[in-house]
Amino acid sequence: MSTENAKKNASYAAVDQNLDPSHQVVGIGSGTTIVYVVERLAQLDTERRLVCVPTSFQARELILSHRLHLGRVDEYVDIDIAFDGADEIDSDLNLIKGGGACMFLEKLVASCARKFIVVADHRKSSVALSRGVPLEVVSVAHKRVFLELERLGGRPRLRDAGDRKAGPVVTDHGNLVVDCEFGEIRPERVAELDVKIKALVGVVETGFFPGMAHKAYIGLEDGTVRVQK
Ligand code: 5RP
Repeated sequence: MSTENAKKNASYAAVDQNLDPSHQVVGIGSGTTIVYVVERLAQLDTERRLVCVPTSFQARELILSHRLHLGRVDEYVDIDIAFDGADEIDSDLNLIKGGGACMFLEKLVASCARKFIVVADHRKSSVALSRGVPLEVVSVAHKRVFLELERLGGRPRLRDAGDRKAGPVVTDHGNLVVDCEFGEIRPERVAELDVKIKALVGVVETGFFPGMAHKAYIGLEDGTVRVQK
């Protein structure tokens, strides 16, 4: 079973088991797994009744390419259900997101949603979060934020665009992306660490999503889907 099939199985199961005829506004996350969520929504919403609220340029293009209705999060602050991928999911359903540097909008849309459903393949599932957490940081504050992150036990680095001329990754809001390693974070410590990082002047948002997800649909290697609640 390929990873692509695992992503597709998780996404189709998540939509089929959670989309309700009463739902009108749907949040659309970012990444490669969400592609299958939008594909399934487009198959089911034959009358194009749903309004889809994107979390990134990629999500916007995906919605438009399937001829679904596009909405903005400042027009639709009450979202019935939001779907999104994740970089890591721990045993308490805490997430790390922001691999695509869109965690600010992703978190805003998730926080506006009555139900937030995560879709992922088996590689994203862990007992404890251990990948570096992405942070959106105002450029002029980043050196100070680095010092404070080190005091919290983190190892921060600027995310590089991978092209010497392009320099660091800049978000849609003109801020820098910092990836900060903290080693393994016990599930019960994620929310507390998130609050401490958010309190630093210059940190716009973190890629920690503590306790926000209602369920995660995880596509397994054998073709089945595990639902984590
Ligand atoms: C982007 C994200 C993505 O949802 C996350 O990186 C998962 O992506 P993929 O579905 O491609 O594995 O948080 O900021």
